[in-house]
Amino acid sequence: MRRASVPSLLLLVLLSAPAAAEDLDHGRQLAERWCAACHAVATKPTKFRRARPFVAIAARDNVTKEMLTKFLLLPHATMANNPLSANDAADLAGYILSLRK
Ligand code: HEC
Repeated sequence: MRRASVPSLLLLVLLSAPAAAEDLDHGRQLAERWCAACHAVATKPTKFRRARPFVAIAARDNVTKEMLTKFLLLPHATMANNPLSANDAADLAGYILSLRK
């Protein structure tokens, strides 16, 4: 067995847990704390240009809450340590999609 098998099994279990209703206020707080350095959260602009604003992510038709939640449990860009729990990720995904017009 390769060494990735245990963590990925764990991840699978976490991801298949039924999603509780997300808490959008909590999602916004998490976004401001962990994401705002790189992404424009809501309409607040940022100087960092490589990351898409959350409104732009929300605007894409093919983005779903499940997809975002899974994405957010993986490390991305230069976020070395992902501080989010599965619930945090769901709240954040819900918050990002709440920006959809
Ligand atoms: C260190 C800067 C940085 C931080 C902090 C950061 N991101 Fe990102 N994010 C990026 C960059 C850069 C990309 C573009 C894709 C890549 O290079 O991985 C990205 C891509 C994304 C995408 C995919 C959208 C696309 O363009 O396809 C999502 C969703 C996302 N980030 C959400 C978040 C959330 C939620 C947080 C807070 C928990 C966060 N990011 C924190 C830099 C960051």
